[in-house]
Order: sequence, then C-alpha cells, then structure tokens
Amino acid sequence: MNKEIKRIAVFTSGGDAPGMNAALRAVVRNASFHDLHVYGIYRGYEGMIDGDFERLERGDVGNIIHRGGTILKTARSERFRTPEGRKAAYESLLAFDIDACVAIGGNGTFTGANIFSEEYDIPFIGIPGTIDNDLFGTDFTVGFDTAVNTAIDAVDKIRDTADSHNRLFFVEVMGRHSGYIALNTSIGSGAGSVVIPETNTPIEELIDILKKGARRKKLFSVIIVAEGNQTGNAQEIARMVKEQFDFYDTKVAIIGHLQRGGSPTAMDRVLASRLGFHAVEGLLEGRENVMTGLVNNKIKYTPFHEAIVKPKRPDKDLIRMAEILAL
Ligand code: F6P
Repeated sequence: MNKEIKRIAVFTSGGDAPGMNAALRAVVRNASFHDLHVYGIYRGYEGMIDGDFERLERGDVGNIIHRGGTILKTARSERFRTPEGRKAAYESLLAFDIDACVAIGGNGTFTGANIFSEEYDIPFIGIPGTIDNDLFGTDFTVGFDTAVNTAIDAVDKIRDTADSHNRLFFVEVMGRHSGYIALNTSIGSGAGSVVIPETNTPIEELIDILKKGARRKKLFSVIIVAEGNQTGNAQEIARMVKEQFDFYDTKVAIIGHLQRGGSPTAMDRVLASRLGFHAVEGLLEGRENVMTGLVNNKIKYTPFHEAIVKPKRPDKDLIRMAEILAL
C-alpha cells in the first residue's frame, strides 16, 4: 500500500527488557529528523485499545538511554487477542491519524502485530525487545546482553558462598522456552553444567558430570538451569540429584525478574539505537510487517511470521564447547 507516512506511533509491549528506552529514543529522534510526528502509546496494546497516546518530541526521550524498564510502560494484553480488542485499537489509531506503528517487544507482540496486519491496513515495523533472544531474524534481541550480565553477576556471588560451604547450587535463569540466557550465563560464569530446553540433559547425564567432578576432588559446583526445560525446574532437578548422589550439600537459587531490570549494557544500548534508527528508515523505505534485526552485524528485515515461527536455536558448537570447558 505504501501511503506517505507523516505520523507514527511507538509502543513497548510484553515483558520489559533493558534497552527498550534506548530503542524508543532512537525511534523518536530519527522520526523527528525526518519531520514525522511521533505518538507514544502507553501500556502496549492495552493503551492502544484505550487510546492512551501522547505526543513525543526529541526532548521527551532525553536522559532515558541508560534507564532500564520502559518509560512507556508495558503490558501483556488479553484484549488484543480478541477481534473486538483489535477493532478498538484500530479505531484509536485512526482517531490519532496514525499512518504506521513501531512495536518494541517479543514473540507475543509480533504475533499480535501479524494478526492485526492481516485485518487492518496500518503498517507495523518491529524492534526485538526481549531478554530471551528467542526471535528468528536477529542474532541478538535488545535486553539479552544485560540479562546475561546480571545473571553472571549473580552466579559470581553464588560461587563465593558455594565455594566456602562446599555446596552444589542449582541456579535457575529465565528464557521461557529458550536456552540462550542459560547457555551464555553458563559459559560466562564458568558453571559446572547447564540444562537447557534445546538439549534437556537427562538427569543421569547430569549426575555423571557431577561424579566426574567429585572424582577430581571438585568441592563445589554451580549448575545453570533454564526455566522451561523438560528435565525439571531447579527445585525438581536438585531433588532428583540429591536422591541419587548426595556428595554435596545442595541448594537452589532462582534469579527471576532481577534479570529483567537494571541499566542496559553498552552492547544493548548500541543495538537498541541501531534497531530503533533503522526501524524508522525501514518504514520510510516502505517496509511493513517486518522485524528489524541484526544478522552478522548488518541490518536485516524479517517478516513477522518468520520471526515468530521459525526456530532459533543456540549454535551446536557453542553447546559442545560449554560441555567441554565445564569438565
Ligand atoms: O519473555 C521474557 C520473560 O522474562 C521470560 O524469560 C519469562 O518466562 C517471562 O518473561 C516472565 O513473564 P512475566 O514477567 O509476565 O511473569
């Protein structure tokens, strides 16, 4: 369709991720550079349905690049899953004369945008903002690097107490159905092993690894467990290991939402700025219903339906390396 774009709306949706503010800043600043009017929508699709829009100018996004969370707030919208909710959202966009939308979020956000694009004629462009790094079409999502750094920082601390007490710690990290955070945390923290949904390490294999460690007089160990794996959550895995192998005193730590907060790392700020900038460029080039990503350090646009459906799995070589280095 490609009608001229003069007014755009931008929103953050789904789980917040460090760097969302940096992406928002880049969108507003580049759009302003191109003389577009920008509206921020509060609370994602919820605010779109309720007409919770506010004009954003260059100055409104100053002093936010370093802040975690999202100044636009976010939500997981049940109402947008319904045709009535999407109709109300479309009417809000018409009421504000919006020609195109920039959606900053993850899988659920782009699933919603994809359905909306089949029903209505307002183009969307996406920026991958999720700590999970589970979207096809980008090597990294905004927030992933910060989340991994936070998790590694936590594991470093747990390692001190594990070492002092000769304990075995199972540390559960986020990632929904994806093992990226766990695998990278494991490599970066020098953990003893990792259980991720992509491999679902059987409990016997884990016990074997621990036995090998005990044989070489390893007095403590930290195992990273990705939420969403099929072997079990950290509590269950700890119990199963303890039943069959009681060499160590066993403890569990769940890092949880700590991984979602905090000031974004340099890598996330730069990534978010690049993706935000190129989301606007993409819209002006007539791209629609695509996600802006970075593949091999180059900007790439991937259709929403591919970004959300195509599997993205951690590199097999990285998994093998993690196993070898941990031994
Ligand atoms: O998608 C990001 C994420 O943090 C996942 O890693 C996690 O499974 C989920 O969100 C938690 O969602 P909520 O904050 O709604 O409980």
